[in-house]
Formats: sequence, structure tokens, C-alpha cells
Amino acid sequence: MTTLLHIDTSARSFYGEGEKHSSISKMLGQHFFAHWKNQHHHDQIIHRDLGAQPPNFVSQKWLEAVFTPASKRTEAHRVLLAESDQYIDEVARADIILITTPMYNYGMPAALKAWFDQVIRINKTFTFDLARGDFPLEPIFSNKTLILLSSCGEFGFGEGGIREHMNHLGTHIKVLSHYLGVDQFFEIRSEYQEFGDNRHEGSILSAKQKIEKLVSELTTTQSKKMLTA
Ligand SMILES: Cc1cc2nc3c(=O)[nH]c(=O)nc-3n(C[C@H](O)[C@H](O)[C@H](O)COP(=O)(O)O)c2cc1C
Repeated sequence: MTTLLHIDTSARSFYGEGEKHSSISKMLGQHFFAHWKNQHHHDQIIHRDLGAQPPNFVSQKWLEAVFTPASKRTEAHRVLLAESDQYIDEVARADIILITTPMYNYGMPAALKAWFDQVIRINKTFTFDLARGDFPLEPIFSNKTLILLSSCGEFGFGEGGIREHMNHLGTHIKVLSHYLGVDQFFEIRSEYQEFGDNRHEGSILSAKQKIEKLVSELTTTQSKKMLTA
């Protein structure tokens, strides 16, 4: 059995495909699961909508709690860290992390950044050791797959595109994914939402086809993993 952690992050809800003001990134997530569930009836899915319920920002008191040794933490520290503990537990359980996200101001929504700040935590998701030289951080988890499904209003954010240099969304999340123990990263992007023309339709269609192909490929690799486990 595979465990999937499904994280939505758009401030918009998903009301149904093509509905006005409905989230495109959340729709791509729904498309993934419509195909995934056909072939994986028994998988466990943990779902979080960070757009609807944004994580708290880290604070001075939160950092004090993090850097207090676990054996010396007070009840107040434990309460402050409970949210982070819960998110980290969900990441620990996940084989596949599926994040759906809009591009906001050329990067990720604040809610998703707040989630990463709660999750990438010393001695929980990474260790820090200066004996490692210039790269003292090492992830604790391993072997995870991250799938990023995103939607942008403009276009040309991919490799060689006219806005590649302005894309701080997938590039940022790919760097961070290392600290979640991710060794397989996939990104599928839909563009042109603000133009609303046939290029937008084409981009959505292409994203959906890529999602279907990815589901087939992952199904094959997951079955191989289960055979060798
Ligand atoms: C606050 C905000 C900032 C945005 N910034 C950008 C941007 O920098 N670049 C871009 O291409 N689109 C930008 N957009 C457009 C969204 O990326 C686009 O509408 C996308 O479809 C949103 O995802 P969703 O449909 O899942 O909500 C922005 C939209 C909002 C609401």
C-alpha cells in the first residue's frame, strides 16, 4: 500500500472543471486522483487544503521551542510545536507527496511557504553537523517522490522559455524537496490562465495528458518496488 500526501494551496476552491473562479491547480490534482484511484484502490490518502486552512507563521517563541532539547520542553513548547509535529508526521508517512499550487508573484503562495517553514525542522526532517563542512544539513527521510502540479497566469516559465528567469516556484520547491527526503521530483505546469484563449485550453489539455502518463509510469515503478520489498 502506498501513502499519498495531497496538499492543495490555492486560495481558490475547486467548484468543478471550467467553473468561474475555480482553482486550476486543484483541478489538476483532482485529475491526478481520478486516474490514480482507478489503479490504486487501497492506497491511503492524507489531504490538506492549506489555502482554506493556512499554517501559522513561525515566531520567536516557536523557534525557542524548536531549539529547546526535547527532554527540557515545557507544556507551552509542546503546544506551540504540535502543528509542526502533525505536518511532519504526515510527511514521514507519505511515499508520494502531491502538491498543487498557483504561482503567486513568481513564487509559491505564502500558505505553502509557511507549511515548508513548519516542516523543515532541525532533528525532525534534517540534521545539522558542521563536521560535514560547507554543507552541514542532511535530510532524515529518504526515498520519497514529489509531484508538483502548478498553474500560472502568464507563460514561458519552463526551460528555455521567455520567463524562465522569473520562475521562482518549481525551482524553489525542488530545492526544498531534498529536505523532505525526496529523490524523485516531477513538475507539470499549466500556463496562460490570464490570457484565457486557446493557448490556455491547450496548456491544460497538455498538463492533463502529462498527468495521465505520469500516473502510468508511477504505477509501474510502485508495483516493481512492492515486488522487491
Ligand atoms: C495574488 C496573485 C498573484 C499572482 N501572481 C502571478 C505571477 O506572478 N505570475 C503568473 O504567471 N501568474 C500570477 N497569478 C495568476 C495565477 O497564477 C493564476 O491565476 C493561477 O491559475 C492560479 O492558480 P489557481 O487557479 O489554482 O488558483 C497570480 C494570481 C494571484 C491571485
